[in-house]
Amino acid sequence: MRAVIIGGSGHVGTYLVPRLVEAGYEVVNVTRGRRKPYRPHGAWNAVGQVTIDRTEAEKTASFGPQIAGLKPDIVIDLICFTSESAQHLAEALRGRVQHLLVCGTIWVHGHSVVVPTTEEQPRRPFGTYGMQKAAIEAYLLNEARRNGFPATMLHPGHIVGPGWEPINPAGHKSVAVFEKLARGDELALPNLGLETLHHVYADDVAQLFMRALANWSAAVGQSFHAVSPSALTLRGYAEAVAGWFGKLARLRFLPWEEWKETASEAEAAMTHDHIAHSPNCSIAKAQRLLGYAPRYTSLQAVHESLAWLIAHDRVHAPPLS
Ligand SMILES: NC(=O)c1ccc[n+]([C@@H]2O[C@H](COP(=O)([O-])OP(=O)(O)OC[C@H]3O[C@@H](n4cnc5c(N)ncnc54)[C@H](OP(=O)(O)O)[C@@H]3O)[C@@H](O)[C@H]2O)c1
Repeated sequence: MRAVIIGGSGHVGTYLVPRLVEAGYEVVNVTRGRRKPYRPHGAWNAVGQVTIDRTEAEKTASFGPQIAGLKPDIVIDLICFTSESAQHLAEALRGRVQHLLVCGTIWVHGHSVVVPTTEEQPRRPFGTYGMQKAAIEAYLLNEARRNGFPATMLHPGHIVGPGWEPINPAGHKSVAVFEKLARGDELALPNLGLETLHHVYADDVAQLFMRALANWSAAVGQSFHAVSPSALTLRGYAEAVAGWFGKLARLRFLPWEEWKETASEAEAAMTHDHIAHSPNCSIAKAQRLLGYAPRYTSLQAVHESLAWLIAHDRVHAPPLS
């Protein structure tokens, strides 16, 4: 089986490509050739590398035909951001692949309503990113269910792993938040600190892709959340991180309008995006239909990532307990 993965050298691909090779797939990775995977793995020696800039190739409508020309049995698209991109690729692959798996996001849900949110709840996305991913999902699932196109969509939460900064307990990416908690300094959180984040370890996302491939008939025409077993409140997350440094979290709670003045514009925008969504997604469907068994809780995933950042001097803090 020949698997073409589009965008396979990033957060998800770092783990998914070695899993595909180990499962016996002949793997071709399509990227611009700029990024290296976050961790080395011998499996990469067996991976074919094809350099295509998707954005440029889509301008001349040559991207889909180029992917089809690689003669894939399955295609995994990790970097689809508009319904036009999805449609262009699906048209080129129609009747030519066994399975197209596309990476979405839990942002397709917009704000949470009944939690944990299930895949079946009506989509109410806001913001261009989530709205476009929801449009991709609507297009692909319609094609699968009406026209027999073999598509599956997987929706990750905030992807965590060694090598990059996880979303922190204040809902943005500055490592200063972890450093404050390590020192036992006061940390301001927005509102009551009860809004939520839903992380996932990158290899658990990769696991779900593998399980969707292995359970074709259950996966086609469906979307699945790729998240850890449970979401975290900002407050609970901050308390846990402080505890890893042997500290009690000293937290101050500020109404949003006051809190946003304590952060940079970019940090405040990122936090607002996270707490406006306050994701809390169910993995029950993925467990039931695909046998998804995430190896990491949200806190275990962040612990590993933070330990890596400290060991590589990217977070200035003592080693974690
Ligand atoms: N990161 C998260 O927390 C998160 C959360 C929810 C959902 N997601 C979804 O997960 C998916 C993957 O995201 P990610 O964060 O894993 O991506 P990523 O780490 O940024 O990796 C992107 C990959 O795509 C390649 N790429 C980027 N632009 C390209 C282009 N124009 N043409 C060809 N290749 C290109 C990159 O390699 P080159 O640079 O070498 O081209 C790299 O291999 C996305 O669909 C995203 O919406 C991510």
